[in-house]
Amino acid sequence: MSSLFNLGKSGRVRLVMESALTARDRVGVQDFVLLENYNSEAAFIENLRRRFRENLIYTYIGSVLVSVNPYKELEIYSKPQMERYRGVSFYEISPHIYAVSDNTYRAMRTERKDQCILISGESGAGKTEASKKILLYYAVTCPTNDHMAALGDRLLQSNPVLEAFGNAKTLRNDNSSRFGKYMDVQFDFRGAPVGGHILNYLLEKSRVVHQNHGERNFHIFYQLLDGGEDDLLITLDLERNPQKYQYLVKGNCPRLSSVSDKNNWKVVMKALPVIGFTEEEVQKLLNIIASVLHLGNTQFGEGEEGETYITTETQIHHLSKLMGVDGSALGEALTHKKLTAKGEEMISPLSFEQALSARDALAKAVYGRTFTWLVEKINQSLALKVHSKGSSVIGLLDIYGFEVLQHNSFEQFCINYCNEKLQQLFIELTLRSEQEEYETEGIAWETVQYFDNKIICDLIEEKHKGIISILDEECLRPGETCDVSFLEKLEDALGGHPHFVTHKLANGKTRRVMSREEFRLLHYAGEVNYNVNGFLDKNNDSLNRNLKEVMCQSDNQILQHCFRREEVIDQKRPEMAATQFKNSLMKLMEILMSKEPSYVRCIKPNDAKQPGRFDEVLVRHQVKYLGLMENLRVRRAGFAYRRRFEAFLQRYKPLCPETWPNWHGRLSDGVSTLVSHLGYKPEEYKLGRSKIFIRFPKTLFTTEDALEAKKPEIVIVIQSGWRGMKARRRAKRRRQAAELIRRFIKGFIYRHEEYCPENEYFLDHVRYSFLKNLRQNLPKSVLDKNWPTPPPLVAEASEHLRRMHMRNMTLKYCRRVQPEWKKQMMQKVEASKIFKDQKDSYPQSVGRLFLDSRLEREQINLKVVQTLGNDKVQYGVSVIKYDRRGFKPRPRQLLLTNTFAVLVDRTKIKQRMDYSAMRGISVSSLSDGVFVVHMPSEDNKQKGDVVLHCSHVIELVTKLAMMANKVSYVNISPGSIRFAVARGKEGIIDFVRGSELKVAKGKRGHLLVVSQSLLPAW
Ligand SMILES: Nc1ncnc2c1ncn2[C@@H]1O[C@H](COP(=O)(O)OP(=O)(O)OP(=O)(O)O)[C@@H](O)[C@H]1O
Ligand SMILES: [Mg+2]
Repeated sequence: MSSLFNLGKSGRVRLVMESALTARDRVGVQDFVLLENYNSEAAFIENLRRRFRENLIYTYIGSVLVSVNPYKELEIYSKPQMERYRGVSFYEISPHIYAVSDNTYRAMRTERKDQCILISGESGAGKTEASKKILLYYAVTCPTNDHMAALGDRLLQSNPVLEAFGNAKTLRNDNSSRFGKYMDVQFDFRGAPVGGHILNYLLEKSRVVHQNHGERNFHIFYQLLDGGEDDLLITLDLERNPQKYQYLVKGNCPRLSSVSDKNNWKVVMKALPVIGFTEEEVQKLLNIIASVLHLGNTQFGEGEEGETYITTETQIHHLSKLMGVDGSALGEALTHKKLTAKGEEMISPLSFEQALSARDALAKAVYGRTFTWLVEKINQSLALKVHSKGSSVIGLLDIYGFEVLQHNSFEQFCINYCNEKLQQLFIELTLRSEQEEYETEGIAWETVQYFDNKIICDLIEEKHKGIISILDEECLRPGETCDVSFLEKLEDALGGHPHFVTHKLANGKTRRVMSREEFRLLHYAGEVNYNVNGFLDKNNDSLNRNLKEVMCQSDNQILQHCFRREEVIDQKRPEMAATQFKNSLMKLMEILMSKEPSYVRCIKPNDAKQPGRFDEVLVRHQVKYLGLMENLRVRRAGFAYRRRFEAFLQRYKPLCPETWPNWHGRLSDGVSTLVSHLGYKPEEYKLGRSKIFIRFPKTLFTTEDALEAKKPEIVIVIQSGWRGMKARRRAKRRRQAAELIRRFIKGFIYRHEEYCPENEYFLDHVRYSFLKNLRQNLPKSVLDKNWPTPPPLVAEASEHLRRMHMRNMTLKYCRRVQPEWKKQMMQKVEASKIFKDQKDSYPQSVGRLFLDSRLEREQINLKVVQTLGNDKVQYGVSVIKYDRRGFKPRPRQLLLTNTFAVLVDRTKIKQRMDYSAMRGISVSSLSDGVFVVHMPSEDNKQKGDVVLHCSHVIELVTKLAMMANKVSYVNISPGSIRFAVARGKEGIIDFVRGSELKVAKGKRGHLLVVSQSLLPAW
């Protein structure tokens, strides 16, 4: 090693991997691979314990996550925590279930390969909690839309439902999953969850009819009794007290301190509709749950001749109602058996014992099949609704862990067999992936010694020779068979197998701890004695045919679905339970093998469900059977630490002058240069194609120490570099500023010169500033005449721009004008041409709109309208007509049509004035409303000039002149107007200003019009 390393405290192993970790995260090692003494189980457990004490429940073995159940709520599952783990590399941050979730998700997205997360551990170790946390992580962090959010909701809501029906309190776990669960979550190409599917394995049905002391039946029974409303219980014929039900009293444990059945009932009832259960389906489901309780209370009596009869008829009545079956047929089927002998059907009575077990078998079958129906129903709700191209899957396996009880039966046999299979898979996949990595990196693989449990799997599952085959054979064999004969068969076939022992085959020492009814399997995880009692029955899992027949006829749709008619007709024996389980496991293995696995290994720190207690013996046992030490050995046999070249170089480049601050050559050469400078010995490391593999943690720690020691030095280098750069940058900016000021001053001096190098900067600046200012201060409307004052330099351009802008605004304005408004404008323009600066009252008229007519339609007499016929009235207004002689005022209506105007006195048209004949219109220049329409007096029809007064004289005269197309004929007289009274005789109207409007006879027979100075007389 180079002297560089001596800078660190020699011998001290710093447990630092990445800078993002806090001191607390560094308790122990966060990856067991970095344990110096990796062969020592004690060191392994000590590391677990140290971290557990600090509530650091997660630790890695490479990419496997080891999780210790804290038995208390930790503040590490919040949304901000989820965000912390998003898109972050495994080693950069403290170990967490979210890191596994996120890495799996990213691997699925980037490598487009299906993934699975296998969660294992013994009962109560936290498997189900872990799987829920993973699901929640995906529901919260994955991209979604409304549809997907609903799916996420259903995925999450399926948990409480499945737990209510499939979980129960056991001695080990208050919420123990009594079935295995594999769940696929499907993601579309965008990485959004789009579907899900659940596979369930081997529900522990025997719990329905029997519970060990201190244990309970499935949660749903207690939830229903505690949470169900009074009315509901009445319809189900149930009482609230669970002690009343035989199937709930066996364990003598009706209540749980840790959970509220009532609350959970509410949660389940809320979840069912979310998953898509109709009200009717929920009712039918509850009917079935209640029926199971009533079945348990169905009692039998024994008659004098040994016949069995039912003593609780009310139960049969309830059952008939709730299951929708015929009561007497059910009673009959519970006490009799249908046999087919020589093609003939015979009914034979059941003994008391047989009746009890037929009843229990029915309860188990009903509950078990309903559970399967429930899973199917959830699957329908989670099913991928639209086929999504390029979708990938993440599978989650939460399956019962290895189980060793005081008395182990068929169920434990199946569970432990399942764990053997998973161990096989684990060995196969971890070794394989490890080996694959060495191969792709071109590094020679060194074999590791590990126990291959294939021999045990074969012992159990091999065709014809395995325990399951022998069990099946024994079940099918005609003649007297019983559990003991099965044990004998096992001894005959398997005696001498290294992993199989019975009382008879064992040596003296073992014999003492085994009963005669037991066989012992030496599992990879330890020895387990199985009692053969009940093996045949449970494997047979048979239900009398006549009970099946009764169930087929149920009118409860769920039961109809669960008990198919074909099953009764079909004479072929269904597969035995163990074989069914074996086959479903085979399928599961296939599913898992096709995916990239990640592992979560759960450990239970104590049996008392207590926080903070670390029971070393218990933990050691789990570490052993989870194969964690082997896992670690496999991982370490090769190399403790591996890193991509770029990451390694990036982190440690300050340790070598050639690679610091940047390496420009090939990455592998850079790493090579770096490690040889650090003095790595050849046996300490290997270079692959894209990664460096470091064999011993110590090498890495020493390198880390060196980096730590080097940091102050690096900091000084970086600081001085940074300060220098800042100073240089500041000086440069100052220089640039001085130069700018100089150019500006010079430009100002030369500003009146032609454009030349001396003033170009200044002039450009002036232009630019004006245009910039103009852009922000352009007039917003045509009427706004403001315009920024331009500097002389751009005066001409500014004027062009002003005109362009005005034209533009005008154009925009015109485009927006409506036809009505256009007409108004045109009339206003004509009014302006006629009256502007000519008549006093004109300015006041400008702001007021011309109306289409001053008369309502009903104000014009119908007779007049009829007389006008096709000549429609375009405009009408009330006027006063003054007689030409005597100037008597007469109220009239003046109506304009397209070709003539008429004066109307109520119903009569008094005068018609053809526009074509009209000679002119005269008005005064004052503010009065008097005007004269000049008509030829020689033409009798037209009757000569007319003197009129109108309050809207400007509007009226404009319209009249426009319609008559005689705008230029309007004459505005300042003092007086002459008009023709009769042929050759003239009348005169004099206009004067006065205090108030007056129209009266004046001197010399003139009409005198006094108009107010500012009256709105238009
Ligand atoms: N991460 C955790 N944080 C807090 N409590 C936990 C955590 N994991 C587990 N627990 C506690 O431990 C109990 C048992 O956990 P869980 O039900 O997940 O066990 P399991 O491994 O699924 O057991 P089984 O095989 O019986 O189903 C939980 O009900 C919870 O109280
Ligand atoms: Mg569980």
